[in-house]
Parts: sequence; C-alpha cells; structure tokens
Amino acid sequence: MTTTSDPAASTAGATGPGTAAGGGRIPFFPPDLFQDDRDTLLRLLYEIGTGQDQKFILGEHTRRFEDALRRRLDAADVVACSSGTSALHLVLTAFGIGPGDEVVVPAFGCAPLAAAVLHTGAVPVFGDIDPLTLTLDPAGAQDLITPRTRALMPAHMFSVMADMPRFTALAAAHDLRLVEDSAVAQGAVLDGRPAGLWGDAGVYSFVQVKSFGMPGEGGAVVTRDAETGRRARMLRNHGQDGTHRGLHHTIGVNSRFDEIQAAFQLHRLPGLTARLERRARIAAHYTERFADLPGITPPPPGTDGRCYYVYTLLADDRDALREDLTAAGVDTHVYYPRILPDQAAFAPAAAHRPGAAWPHARRAARHHLSLPVHHRLDDAQVEHIADAVRAHALRTRR
Ligand SMILES: Cc1ncc(COP(=O)(O)O)c(C=O)c1O
Repeated sequence: MTTTSDPAASTAGATGPGTAAGGGRIPFFPPDLFQDDRDTLLRLLYEIGTGQDQKFILGEHTRRFEDALRRRLDAADVVACSSGTSALHLVLTAFGIGPGDEVVVPAFGCAPLAAAVLHTGAVPVFGDIDPLTLTLDPAGAQDLITPRTRALMPAHMFSVMADMPRFTALAAAHDLRLVEDSAVAQGAVLDGRPAGLWGDAGVYSFVQVKSFGMPGEGGAVVTRDAETGRRARMLRNHGQDGTHRGLHHTIGVNSRFDEIQAAFQLHRLPGLTARLERRARIAAHYTERFADLPGITPPPPGTDGRCYYVYTLLADDRDALREDLTAAGVDTHVYYPRILPDQAAFAPAAAHRPGAAWPHARRAARHHLSLPVHHRLDDAQVEHIADAVRAHALRTRR
C-alpha cells in the first residue's frame, strides 16, 4: 500500500509497524487519537477556563462551530447537543412523535435507535436489514407501515449509508417523517448529498471514537428545515428560545454543548477531510485484498455513500477469524452480537408484532467483524491486518 504521501498516514500508530515486526498490538481505536492536538486542547482549556465571561456552555464557540458545520453542509441549521442519542431524541420530539405512534427502525444496530423512540412514548417497529449493506431494508420497512407509523428511521452502518433514495420515496409516498441516523456517517456523501441531509433531519455523534470524535460526549442535529432546527434548539435547553431566559415555551431537556469541545472541534474541522480520505484508502485496500477470499464478504466496494467509521466484513466463521487476528496482534470488535428485538430492554416493544423474524439481522449479528481502519494506522499495519485476514481465510478454506 503506497499512501504515505498523506500527512495523516505518516504518523505511525501507538504500536509501531505491524506486529509481525514490531511485536506490539494494533489497537482497534488508537490511544493517541488527539495527540497532535493536545497542546491546542490544553491552551483552549486554559483560555476558556480563565476567560472573563466564564462561559462554558452554548456560547460563542458553540455558535461558531454550528455555523461552520452548517456552511460546510449547506444545511438550514445545525444544533449542537450533548450526544448522538440525545440528537435522535430531540428530532423525534421536534416532530411531535409520542404515545400511540410507531417508528420503523433496523433490528440490527445500536440501542439508541430503539431507546430514543421509546423515550418519546412511541414504539419502535423492527425491520430486517439488507444482507450486504447491513442497513434497514426499504422493502421490508414498507411492509411494516401501518396507520400508526409516523416515521422511518434508517441508520447508516459501519461504513455504508442506508438506501436513502428509496427511503425518501417511501416516506413521501406514505407521508412519513424520515429521520436519518447518520451518527457514524459524518463526511459521507451519497448521490452528491451529504449524510444527514437526506432525511427531514439527521444526527451526528462526536463521541471520541467516531469519525469526527472529540475527547468527550457530544452530538448534533442537522436539518434542511429551519423550523425543525428552531424546535430542536429550544428542546435542547429546556424549551427556552435562546433570547428570553427563564421563559419555557415547551418541555425540553438539558442537551447543551460544551464550549471547550466546540472550540476544539473548530480547530480539528479543517483536517477532517484528510482523515476521512485516509480511512477510505485503507478500506479500499482491504476490500481489494479480500475480494477473492473464501468465507469472507467485504462491505460493498466504491466510495459513493461510504464513510468508513469502521470497516466491517462478514466471515463464515467469525469467531475463528477473530481468534486468528488476536493471535496476530490485531484487535477487532463485534458491535452487535445480539439484535435489538432480542434485547431484554426492547423485547416488549418487539412483542407488538408477534411472528416477526429478522433472518438477515440475525445472520449479521453472528458473522460481522470490524477491523481497525482509523487514520493513524500506518501502511505496514494495514498490510499486516490484510495479511492476517488472508492467511486465516486461505488456511481454513474448505
Ligand atoms: C448508529 C448510531 N446511532 C446513534 C449513536 C449514538 O451516539 P452517541 O454515542 O453520541 O449517543 C451511535 C453511537 O454510539 C451510533 O452508532
């Protein structure tokens, strides 16, 4: 792999070149994620911490950060808030979704997809996924629509965006809200439209490990609709409108954004594209090297609608591959070993639709494995990971 002209690539990960030569492990996420920006972080901490106005939340830095993201996306509004989970809740609440309503979500994915719906008083209805993209299947989602359905909430998964053109058409045909869980997909673009701007509203997560992660918790609502932005903005700060303090127009929550983090994200924003490009090149290299492997299904190739938060393949014998990679010094991750309807927290919601089955979601839960794809991997580490996957597949081929 010859990608060392990229400045993001020239910095080796914490463990040095691949374990075969270096002896260290290749971590799934690097412990030195913010190392290059540590001095800036400390300076901002000091400056904001000792600033005259002692403004630590929802101040000038947050406003500038929201504005920078809004301009970058050409969105109507970006509302920074306390997490991606909270952003989902703000969006659903802004749309007036509540008791008696249903929202179609994927059966394979993270807990916030179901929990955010349940926190509004509505019921999540679980749909099966596409077996290759691992995102909510639009045809299956269509079959789940009833007179109670208020919204569709597909999620972009790992490195692949959901089929937003079809979800857009489906939402329009049934007069439903389209909520885009783009928490992991910041920077992805599908058919020329950024992730987050396909739905009536989308969300981002800035938790440490995400593509635009930061040293703490945070998220954002992104939208093409100014009124949705206005409502989300009020909801994130206890229903106040930002002008008249102490007047509560609606029942909101505390989902405010931190000033130090906003200033830090503003500092890191210009480097985001290069970091995402480095991830995309590593992913493309993996996919090329895994294309002919027995028992391994890489994610769909290409760049349109791809984001590479993590690189997730399907392996016939996932646990054996994982063991071999661990022995080769490569840390991996299994994100969702149990589908949402099988979780104790969400089984009662799933019981609203007796007889539902999610064969592709169950298969994904058994077979998916995520490999390190972060921008701090050096070329030798990338090659070592690819070699280790190939060695496993060729050794175990039947
Ligand atoms: C698809 C998806 N949606 C929502 C979230 C929630 O984001 P956060 O962790 O910032 O609450 C995450 C991240 O964990 C996620 O992966």
